[in-house]
Amino acid sequence: MSSSTKPAILSTLAFLSLFFSIAESSCSDAFNSKAKDVNITKYCKGLTTLGAEFGWDYTKGHNETTVRIILGARLQGEMGWLAWGVNPGKDPQMVGTRALIGIRQHNASMVIKTYNITTLTKLGCQLLPSENIDLEVSDEKIEYMPDISYLVIHATLILPVGKYNFSKLNHVWQVGNYAEDLEPKRHPTALQNVDSTETIDLATGHAHNCVGHHRQHLRRVRN
Ligand SMILES: *[C@@H]1O[C@H](CO)[C@@H](O)[C@H](O)[C@H]1NC(C)=O
Ligand SMILES: *[C@@H]1O[C@H](CO)[C@@H](O)[C@H](O)[C@H]1NC(C)=O
Ligand SMILES: *[C@@H]1O[C@H](CO)[C@@H](O)[C@H](O)[C@H]1NC(C)=O
Ligand SMILES: *[C@@H]1O[C@H](CO)[C@@H](O)[C@H](O)[C@H]1NC(C)=O
Ligand SMILES: *[C@@H]1O[C@H](CO)[C@@H](O)[C@H](O)[C@H]1NC(C)=O
Repeated sequence: MSSSTKPAILSTLAFLSLFFSIAESSCSDAFNSKAKDVNITKYCKGLTTLGAEFGWDYTKGHNETTVRIILGARLQGEMGWLAWGVNPGKDPQMVGTRALIGIRQHNASMVIKTYNITTLTKLGCQLLPSENIDLEVSDEKIEYMPDISYLVIHATLILPVGKYNFSKLNHVWQVGNYAEDLEPKRHPTALQNVDSTETIDLATGHAHNCVGHHRQHLRRVRN
């Protein structure tokens, strides 16, 4: 090795280790340990609201993309729910979302089901599970870490390429603190909870969050 290439290699190594330490620290230890347990370690990011953390990996097939996801967030109390979903529509919004919701009941039992989020849900109608959400979901699991009130859900989804663009996937997340049996009750309508959506590129984790959308939400909240 010539003496002139050595510093270049060393500085490259220093850069790489800096890069990896930043990449690793973007999710909490609690989240990372759960993600490792289920082998979803390829990508993770802290989401923009609710302190939620999201990890995923994907396999592209000819007609579909198989996505494995894990979502984690802290609950305010011992009871609560965590939702994550995708919206095949044009915009990243709650209405039209096919969701996976994990609930930790007051008696500490846990359940995870699929739900259709509709305009009726938004109006406050009862939200109950739907076996068919027009999407293949498997391996759904919910776990709770009582020492830090941290709830985690993970699952595998098969997204048909014609309906979902994996480089422009509308996803939605939500955290609530009250449920009645299988019915998650409306989350607090704080702005944070209303705005928990983005369009993500699964290949990079980058999100397209445009200011226009944000303004629209602000207006809707005031109505
Ligand atoms: C973990 O997942 C990757 C794909 O992301 C796979 O290649 C690997 O075999 C898996 N490892 C285990 C132990 O399941
Ligand atoms: C993919 O879709 C094409 C038509 O769009 C179909 O002919 C083919 O059988 C499908 N492949 C798989 C593996 O489902
Ligand atoms: C949920 O949505 C799917 C797809 O649009 C539909 O087939 C199904 O009937 C819906 N389920 C309920 C309970 O409304
Ligand atoms: C998915 O989105 C990307 C980026 O906007 C676009 O280039 C691509 O054509 C889209 N693919 C499909 C199948 O719509
Ligand atoms: C816990 O509460 C849920 C919801 O009220 C109920 O469905 C479930 O049977 C209860 N589990 C136990 C073990 O009591």
